[in-house]
Amino acid sequence: MANSVIGRDMAVDLGTANTLVYVRKKGVLLDEPSVVALNTTTRDVLAVGNEAKRMIGRTPDHIRAIRPLKDGVIADFDAAEQMLRYFIATVHRRRYLAKPRLVVCVPSGITTVEQRAVKEAGYLAGARRVYIIEEPMAAAIGAGLPVHEATGNMVVDIGGGTTEVAVISLGGVVASMSVRSAGDELDQAIITWLKKEHGLMLGEHTAEEIKMTLGSAYPLPQEVDAEVRGRDMASGLPRTVTVSTREIRQAMEEPITVIVDAVRETLDQTPPELAGDIMDRGVVLTGGGALLRGLDELIRHETGIPVHVAQDPLTSVAMGAGKCVEEFEALQQVLVADRR
Ligand SMILES: Nc1ncnc2c1ncn2[C@@H]1O[C@H](COP(=O)(O)OP(=O)(O)OP(=O)(O)O)[C@@H](O)[C@H]1O
Ligand SMILES: [Mg+2]
Repeated sequence: MANSVIGRDMAVDLGTANTLVYVRKKGVLLDEPSVVALNTTTRDVLAVGNEAKRMIGRTPDHIRAIRPLKDGVIADFDAAEQMLRYFIATVHRRRYLAKPRLVVCVPSGITTVEQRAVKEAGYLAGARRVYIIEEPMAAAIGAGLPVHEATGNMVVDIGGGTTEVAVISLGGVVASMSVRSAGDELDQAIITWLKKEHGLMLGEHTAEEIKMTLGSAYPLPQEVDAEVRGRDMASGLPRTVTVSTREIRQAMEEPITVIVDAVRETLDQTPPELAGDIMDRGVVLTGGGALLRGLDELIRHETGIPVHVAQDPLTSVAMGAGKCVEEFEALQQVLVADRR
């Protein structure tokens, strides 16, 4: 019995783009977009996750597909709470006696008010106790860095809303920086560029696809051209334009520079011994943005530090928070406890 109760404990990576739920002794059981479709008149939830994401840009007037998180923090509290409740219920179909303990990941830069909102959502979603873990700490643990050793570990988590850079040593964050430039900003930059240079309007979905297929942060050995379909701004009709990988890189240059600068500045704030460790051991990139082609190469080129991409960047944070759930007692020191 005791086991089944403990077995319910879970970790949630409540991300701007994706939410992952890790259940103790089971692993990541849920991985879906952080999207909720609401009836705007009744506020009833019509769909959550994958189903809701498919509705973005395709809903009639009375339905709205919204992303409850923006820039890594809760922007629409009701929707975030409903989403969390739905995801937790999804992984918890079986009956248990006790409410679960919940570990929720938050960006390192958030305010206490924002932290409270996350905890409150956790309690409303049915948690017995909510613990907070800073995303970079979770990312570093998930990427397998020796966070408890007396050595400098640098992790850069590039998500949908924020990029978090942190230096961790002896189980604590020594230096960190959070910038609101990550995947979403790259998509927006592509939208802005195509509007300005080609008079073409794109949806967020298409922009994200272009980023994943054509996007690169560093010159490619073989630059290619591809066709992009959007809506002509003047005529309102569908139109196709040819863009090159070089052009898309140029479109994303500004937000990418913000990310690289954050790495450089964090390194500047790092005590010399730890900075030396990082020069030797390198930086680990996590989060979906780590998959952007050539980003590792660019950071290596701009900072002179070795750069590694985590094995499965999209799940690093959830796996790290999950490890805290598995080894609650041993890893409690990295969690921010809370009493109601
Ligand atoms: N192959 C790829 N190339 C470039 N970007 C990618 C790729 N795959 C995913 N992404 C981007 O990664 C982002 C999502 O990453 P992730 O799931 O780590 O974010 P998140 O945890 O939800 O956000 P945050 O941590 O900021 O709250 C999206 O912007 C997505 O477009
Ligand atoms: Mg994240």
